Amino acid sequence: MQFNIVTLFPEMFAAMNYGVVGRAKETGLIDIRCFNPRDYTEDNYHKVDDTSYGGGPGMVMMVKPLQAAIQGARENSKSFASIVYLTPQGKLLNHDLVKELSVQENLILISGRYEGIDERLLKIEPGIELSIGDYVLSGGELASMVLIDTVTRQLPGVVGDAGSVAQDSFSAGLLDYPHYTRPEVINDLKVPDVLLSGNHAEIARFRRKQALGRTWLRRPELLAKIELTAIDRMLLNEFIEETSS
Ligand code: ADE
Repeated sequence: MQFNIVTLFPEMFAAMNYGVVGRAKETGLIDIRCFNPRDYTEDNYHKVDDTSYGGGPGMVMMVKPLQAAIQGARENSKSFASIVYLTPQGKLLNHDLVKELSVQENLILISGRYEGIDERLLKIEPGIELSIGDYVLSGGELASMVLIDTVTRQLPGVVGDAGSVAQDSFSAGLLDYPHYTRPEVINDLKVPDVLLSGNHAEIARFRRKQALGRTWLRRPELLAKIELTAIDRMLLNEFIEETSS
């Protein structure tokens, strides 16, 4: 999968050289390329922004350098690339959207800076607008990297143990169950006995109950979106009784 980033700060994407994403780059499962609008300016000052029509604080990114950088990305692409604008005005990124994006071969991610980009670019170069959360970042670069990381995890062969991605939080619409590792006791806190029992059916039951219970406690709106089996309802009732006693 190819990620083309339109950004004024390509150096930031060095963060993509580590961990799971770094390995996916090294093995050629993904390719990340940056296109800096400043490199596509024709004036001596390499101007990429200007004041906002109508007044107000801050600068707005101009259409021409962005459009030229998008063109640069297209010329470097083997296949058709959809455009994604990272902006707090976008639709909230969630697991379902991540899955949809992960079947694309090629994306152009526009990482805006300053107060935003000239609205007319979205008419000239249509795309989807995505937000990574209801807060404002200083630019779209970190949001682009969040998107690249989470989409890359979904690509076949990227995460060694495919089961680990399938079991990620949100894959089944639930939060993850709690995890424990050695030692068995720390600060008088013991690993739950069932996890040491070797009884796989009981372990699966414990984990499902915890996933359901934590989602009920912390993100009840997620529970409302999924269909619970009769066993799920029983496990959740047990969890509720145990936590209220
Ligand atoms: N750019 C600035 N804030 C953002 C956010 N929350 N999501 C995506 N892009 C952004």
